[in-house]
Amino acid sequence: MPRPVSFEDATARALEGRSFKVFSSCSSTNDVAKEWALEGAPHLSAVTSDTQESGRGRVGRSWHAKAHAGLLCSIVLRPELDVSRWGIIPLLAGVALVRAIEDRTSVKTTLKWPNDVLFEDRKVAGILCEGQPGDFVICGIGVNVSGAPGKGIAATSLMKAGARRLDRPDLLAALLVQLEEVLKDPDAALDAWRKNSSTLKQKVRVTMLDGSVLEGVAESLDDSGGLTIRLPDHSKHVVLSGDVEHLRRPGTSY
Ligand code: BTN
Repeated sequence: MPRPVSFEDATARALEGRSFKVFSSCSSTNDVAKEWALEGAPHLSAVTSDTQESGRGRVGRSWHAKAHAGLLCSIVLRPELDVSRWGIIPLLAGVALVRAIEDRTSVKTTLKWPNDVLFEDRKVAGILCEGQPGDFVICGIGVNVSGAPGKGIAATSLMKAGARRLDRPDLLAALLVQLEEVLKDPDAALDAWRKNSSTLKQKVRVTMLDGSVLEGVAESLDDSGGLTIRLPDHSKHVVLSGDVEHLRRPGTSY
């Protein structure tokens, strides 16, 4: 009987010709990628692991993935984009990820500001960008492919969303292609973000990093990735970082 193909072998096949590192387990692919970037890893170098021991999420949270069920990867980016615009990189990565997911699985997902990917309002993927502005960005991506962590969490997986293929290395290969594309025309990619956003035009609650909270309608996304919130008193606030909760759409009654 043929031996099942390991995650490492399948990744080596899918990423042939690319600069990559693959592990069966590591602490956090973001940490490995950062070390590699400091040693000079080139643009679009990829680190992926079948499982992670201490995956990290945004704002100091942990990222838990069901064993062997998630795409866990970190890409070293050295964008030619002016450093003043590096804040939009997580948004561009979201656009690339949505495109890769649709290309490989036919599942249509949407983008929640700042960097979540949703299927029917449930989280299917998260993005954590870290780095050294002007030098490199580590774009860490976790996708729930064939399982989502925990019960009762508003999370889902590509499998539950009806994906027609569940091949993590192949999804990573598609993601690298799409990342290269969005970086060629960031403004077009930002427009694509706006068109495919589930946050814009929604009533939202934004919790800022200092703990303060704003509630209003998410009106627009500016060219630096800031989200403009229209408050009930009609004043506008531009939010550059924070956590967004989607409330009900304005004009709907429940
Ligand atoms: C979030 O939604 O808070 C972002 C989650 C990012 C998780 C990924 S999994 C691969 C990479 N390594 C990490 O430690 N985190 C990112």
